[in-house]
Amino acid sequence: MKPIFSASLALLLILNSNLSLTQTAGGVKPAHSPDIEHSIDSIIAGLTLQEKIGQLVQYSGGWSTGPTGRRINDEKRTLIKEGKTGSLLNVIGSSVTHELQKIAVEESRAKIPLLFGLDVIHGFKTTFPIPLAEAATWDAEAVELSARVSAAEAASSGIHWTFAPMVDIARDPRWGRIAEGSGEDTYLGSVMAAARVRGFQGRNLSDPTAIMACAKHYAAYGGAEGGRDYNTVDISEQTLRDVYLPPFKAALDAGAGTFMASFNEINGVPSSGSHFLLTTILRDEWGFDGFVVSDWNSIGELIPHGYAGTPARAAELAINAGLDMDMESRCYRDNLESLVTQGKVRAATLDSAVRRILRMKFRLGLFADPYRACTPEREAKTLRSAANIEAARNVARKAIVLLKNEHSLLPLSKNVKTIAVIGPLANNHRDPVGTWAGPTDTNNVVTLLDGVRAAVPASRVLFAPGCAIDGTDTAGISAAVGVARQADVILLAAGESEDMSGEARSRSSLELPGRQADLVQAVHATGKPVVLVLMNGRPLALSREAANLPAILETWFLGHETGHAIADVLFGSYAPSGRLPASFPRVTGQVPIYYNHKNTGRPADDSVHFTSRYLDVPSTPLYPFGFGLTYTSFAYADLAIASPRVKATDSVSVRITLKNTGSRGGEEVVQLYVRDEVGSLTRPVRELKAYRRVRLEPGQTTSVTLSIPATDLAFTGVDMRRRVEPGMFTVYVGPNAGEGLVGRFEVFE
Ligand code: BGC
Repeated sequence: MKPIFSASLALLLILNSNLSLTQTAGGVKPAHSPDIEHSIDSIIAGLTLQEKIGQLVQYSGGWSTGPTGRRINDEKRTLIKEGKTGSLLNVIGSSVTHELQKIAVEESRAKIPLLFGLDVIHGFKTTFPIPLAEAATWDAEAVELSARVSAAEAASSGIHWTFAPMVDIARDPRWGRIAEGSGEDTYLGSVMAAARVRGFQGRNLSDPTAIMACAKHYAAYGGAEGGRDYNTVDISEQTLRDVYLPPFKAALDAGAGTFMASFNEINGVPSSGSHFLLTTILRDEWGFDGFVVSDWNSIGELIPHGYAGTPARAAELAINAGLDMDMESRCYRDNLESLVTQGKVRAATLDSAVRRILRMKFRLGLFADPYRACTPEREAKTLRSAANIEAARNVARKAIVLLKNEHSLLPLSKNVKTIAVIGPLANNHRDPVGTWAGPTDTNNVVTLLDGVRAAVPASRVLFAPGCAIDGTDTAGISAAVGVARQADVILLAAGESEDMSGEARSRSSLELPGRQADLVQAVHATGKPVVLVLMNGRPLALSREAANLPAILETWFLGHETGHAIADVLFGSYAPSGRLPASFPRVTGQVPIYYNHKNTGRPADDSVHFTSRYLDVPSTPLYPFGFGLTYTSFAYADLAIASPRVKATDSVSVRITLKNTGSRGGEEVVQLYVRDEVGSLTRPVRELKAYRRVRLEPGQTTSVTLSIPATDLAFTGVDMRRRVEPGMFTVYVGPNAGEGLVGRFEVFE
């Protein structure tokens, strides 16, 4: 058979590498190109059935980093040469990707370039804060920058495609993967999803610094019962459409090239076999023209789910549902040929899957330059450049949320004589990188201790770990108390280890693990001022700490620049500006507790017995969604609605006056929530619809206007149509989901 990738075709492809682009509200969405489709027609016409199947098969390269590191095995090289794989994951580095790509484009018959994928979740060699922390910035530009830097680094190392952003809504913090997403809210989650896609994909996928995004895990993976990973999801279609799907749609509108099917089932159908999700919604309703990859072995897992009896049936269900690429299950590799021959999978279905994958390879410019200008020189210049490290520090400090600051203990004076830095996370290089940190070097972590020493070189800085993150050993606590007694102020770094959140890392308790609560108690008992510096991958239940300690700083896992970013905030060179992307419960037993719940027929009233509440704990969270303090204070006044009656096609415009009532400059995140008072289906008590970050100097007053199109008030009705229902709405404008000025407006038809 003659090679199908001819010189004239190659020329056409090079001309096509500069795709025409459509600017969308959320980002840059590549337009459908007839030229690319023609090129794909020619390629598909020349492929054997085996080669077509090969394009749909993805293998792991086993974290191969090339000649000097781990090497990919020879079996995989042969598969590439024989055209039996179209994509590899977990192969890292310009030299090894170059070497394998060369086999694909020079030694395989079809000469179709490979697609290299990797979980670039929050940084590559420069580690940024975990995604949950980045969502706490409430700053789309910062989040886009983080993804842009990560993309440029990964692309220089031969990566074309990241399995990110993770856009799963998580209402239950026991679920460890809450760390990988943007928290509990659909609106904030959608803003962050779009920002990440824009950052990864840049202005044009064929730009060699861009990597293709993958919106995952489609869908409702975060709805796992009990917060236990991979668990069953049973939700109404309205909840699916109104709560869980919008961030995916936002990612798609921003141009995301791929989606990943999730592990879970929804209402009895596992996502990887769901025609409804992968075709009806994604392709038919939303018009997605990229491809869908399975999660790791999620096609094979249709069997334990009890949805398929054999690997062949699993492959048949998945491909007919619209799942294009099989990550690691081998179900496609081993069964598609016979399924096509038997007519259980139509040849046209297979061709469509191949087409979608080739389309994205074209858009990435892989046919024009399969190496995407990767060289070891470019790689060395890009990875951990000074600019990237500075970006990581900037994003990290924006992610910090000040939860408590009694008597303005913070910011600390830079003239403090003696500071005790205590706790198992105080001088810890491993954990601050957080989950899914990829090919990071934890030696590059600036610990809290390092950061404090660098910020206040003239102070005496003492250190004691006190206890481990987990375990029962209390032997180090008395030494820590001894150190605390010598200090003017204590910085106590407590929280979780990096491997307590992330995949398959659900916890049944959200309290501080191990003996850390004892350490906190003992240090607090010295009577010295204590700042609790939390490092963790999820909301924690901190009732005891919040009742006792004067200051609490939530720093999540901030990545390489941890210590510098925290010191910037502690000593006031940066005023904290983060806000919680998820509610913090008082005790674990309150979860799931999320702000946009329904009201019930007996709304919680802690003074009335027969209401929807617990006997032993107030019904409110300890810290609500959207909460965060700074070093000044703000007053909200004069809520005014431009027009108290609006048409369903108009906008609602709400104005307030905001005053900085403190003695320092600072940023407020003004949040607008609405409640649809009466609906044909019951509506949440509040839903975030807009927010604006405002900076004010001491004493300064400004008016802040937030406008939303009335169409944003739409929800999915009993007939599965989204519409705005006429009627009265309450609007709240305030600093978090638990407070705010109140107004009302009416929507009419
Ligand atoms: C995870 C995905 C990830 C994939 C590849 C799976 O276990 O669920 O999020 O992208 O592995 O590493």
